[in-house]
Amino acid sequence: MQIDSLPDTFVSHEVEVRLGDRSYSILIGPGVLSEAHHHIERIFGKRSLFIVADDNCYDLLGIDLMSMLREHGFKVEAAVFPKGEQSKNLRTVEEISRELVRKGADRQSVIVAVGGGVTGDIAGFVASIYMRGIPFVQVPTTLLAQVDSSVGGKTGVDLPEGKNLVGTFYQPSLVLTDIAVLATLPRSELRNGLAEVVKYGAIWDSEFFNFLERHYQGCLELDPDTIGYIVKRSCEIKAEVVSRDEREGGLRRILNFGHTIGHAIEAASDFAVSHGQAVAMGMVAAARLSKLKGLLDSNSVERLRALLDALELPTAIPDGMDHQKIIDLIRHDKKAKAGKVHFVLLKALGETIITPEVTDQEVLEAIKTRPLS
Ligand SMILES: NC(=O)c1ccc[n+]([C@@H]2O[C@H](COP(=O)([O-])OP(=O)(O)OC[C@H]3O[C@@H](n4cnc5c(N)ncnc54)[C@H](O)[C@@H]3O)[C@@H](O)[C@H]2O)c1
Ligand SMILES: [Zn+2]
Repeated sequence: MQIDSLPDTFVSHEVEVRLGDRSYSILIGPGVLSEAHHHIERIFGKRSLFIVADDNCYDLLGIDLMSMLREHGFKVEAAVFPKGEQSKNLRTVEEISRELVRKGADRQSVIVAVGGGVTGDIAGFVASIYMRGIPFVQVPTTLLAQVDSSVGGKTGVDLPEGKNLVGTFYQPSLVLTDIAVLATLPRSELRNGLAEVVKYGAIWDSEFFNFLERHYQGCLELDPDTIGYIVKRSCEIKAEVVSRDEREGGLRRILNFGHTIGHAIEAASDFAVSHGQAVAMGMVAAARLSKLKGLLDSNSVERLRALLDALELPTAIPDGMDHQKIIDLIRHDKKAKAGKVHFVLLKALGETIITPEVTDQEVLEAIKTRPLS
């Protein structure tokens, strides 16, 4: 897709997600949102739009976006739900769907998801099932959503039994990633996203890892050039992995680096530890595990730990956390294959290996070692 009719300043980067007839573009840059009408019209014409947002993002961005789109002649309605992971459930899906019916959404309507990963996951799921599927546009507004959840087409909601247990693979038609909206993001949310950014360097691209080591300050200070680049590079890496393995048959599993142990830490803390923090600890533990298995040198483990530390992310399991509970939770990981938990380990920064050959004793050793390098 070409964006040649627009001034350069509005789109700094375009990343193409190549998935055959479901391919789409991610447009990245400061100010992309102020040109949303152009981008949406180019793909859909003046079809009626439904903004789906949490109450926070609706107030921060949704209302303005809605008036701007209306000024440009779009018919726009909105469905708003309370912010937070606790809204990511089937009840919210039903409420939004009913709101869409009441406000006249039909098969020609387009959902515009404005918010973080929670909004993208819910709105994408609704789009995939409403009237058997209507198109949707992602407007990711957290760093985590910009570098991770808005790329790759996983949608879904939680059940009381566990997270993300009901969902679909459903690709958006367009992703509008405006890095200027990150200005209002709480610092803790920024750090959550940075953990995933470090993950891409660690699993795929050692040069990108080097870049992050040199520019961690720019990341924390939201320097536009640095953020623009890290969002673009993260999207490119995830898009590359997803386009080779859309449904997680193989390669896509490398994106779980740090997540097998991380998810267990999150759950063991009753979600007091945030996802990004847990992934940071999980990545250091996985790197440490890689070293124990003779795959990775200690210098690389230390570089990973030091980078996360520089980005103000925790790298050691909190005191008092029950290590055996973490092991038990890992063994119940929903991504276990035929009862075997597969660990994503590192052979080098930028190079992974997946193996089920990890003992509880080795995991215990990797998580209890303090300091973790
Ligand atoms: N689909 C996928 O591939 C995928 C990948 C990773 C994570 N996820 C999911 O993403 C979710 C987490 O996403 P998240 O961390 O973005 O959480 P979130 O959507 O709850 O957003 C975090 C908070 O930030 C607020 N917020 C959003 N944008 C803001 C802005 N620009 N300024 C100020 N505040 C803003 C939100 O209102 C919310 O309160 C989880 O449910 C997770 O399962 C999905
Ligand atoms: Zn994650």
